[in-house]
Amino acid sequence: MTKTIVTLAGDGIGPEIMAAGLEVLEAVAKKNNFDYTTVAKPFGGAGIDVAGHPLPEDTLEAAKTADAILLAAIGSPKYDNAPVRPEQGLLAIRKELNLFANIRPVKIFDALKHLSPLKPERIEGVDFVVVRELTGGIYFGEHILEDEKARDINDYSADEIRRIMHKAFKLAQMRGKKVTSIDKQNVLATSKLWRNVAEEVATEYPDVTLEHQLVDSAAMIMITNPARFDVVVTENLFGDILSDESSVLPGTLGVMPSASHSEGGPSLYEPIHGSAPDIAGQGIANPISMILSVAMMLRESFGEIAGAEMIENAVDKTLNQGILTRDIGGQTSTADMTAAIISNL
Ligand code: IPM
Ligand code: MG
Repeated sequence: MTKTIVTLAGDGIGPEIMAAGLEVLEAVAKKNNFDYTTVAKPFGGAGIDVAGHPLPEDTLEAAKTADAILLAAIGSPKYDNAPVRPEQGLLAIRKELNLFANIRPVKIFDALKHLSPLKPERIEGVDFVVVRELTGGIYFGEHILEDEKARDINDYSADEIRRIMHKAFKLAQMRGKKVTSIDKQNVLATSKLWRNVAEEVATEYPDVTLEHQLVDSAAMIMITNPARFDVVVTENLFGDILSDESSVLPGTLGVMPSASHSEGGPSLYEPIHGSAPDIAGQGIANPISMILSVAMMLRESFGEIAGAEMIENAVDKTLNQGILTRDIGGQTSTADMTAAIISNL
């Protein structure tokens, strides 16, 4: 059965890295007889330009019926003061497709270790995944802005917490069998519920250890001892902050993929970084985060484990050969980096 992949190249470096990701996909698909077709749709600033909305109706319809979605990057200074911003498209597609589980792996590449802001001994053995709840909490509660007062409502149901906990525990079963649940239980009611549900779900996974951390102390541990984490699960806003904190550990944002899953619908895969308008159109962007997002898609949406590993190994090998884009200390162009990865497949 031919799989349909909707591609949302977006803005800035988005189209350049999407092209790189699709080249690698094509090469891997040939080697593994993976049968797919792609449908490109406007999204983000590109959506505003053609349809007046960052998530045009036609893009949403295509995404809903896709087998998987690849998203490159959105955002442009052009819309800084505009009434609709590209980022609203991101929040809208998450909500519309019910993409409640955001998975952000943090892995250190040997070849890039020296770029990490942490001392080598602190970065040793760091390999964890941030599981961020993505469609609830304060992001999607009521936002009330008055002249002299403002309120944002943080809202979670037990079921919303349950389903993200199950994702985290299932992931931990396939990894280091440890879940760190992060909350602010000493202050927030939503966090008290969060912790209760975490305890309840944990009883179904006796092989997985559950620990709780308050978000402020978790932020410290992420710098002082990140190797102790395996699977970190947290609510939307804490996850936004902690996933950015964790994303700098490998020394560059340019190599970090992510996945967002719903219950049964198509999943979305994207680099964790933005559209880097300052280097857009120059052919120098690092395509690795996009290429590794393609690998995540192959594994998690299509069960194409061999193809995913082929890509991941080729990326490792390419970095070890010293083939590096500018953001990671080299001079290689997007196109040459992509070609090197393909030849290392
Ligand atoms: C992210 C981003 C988004 C978020 C913004 C662009 C709305 O920071 O994906 O982490 O806050 O979720
Ligand atoms: Mg963020």
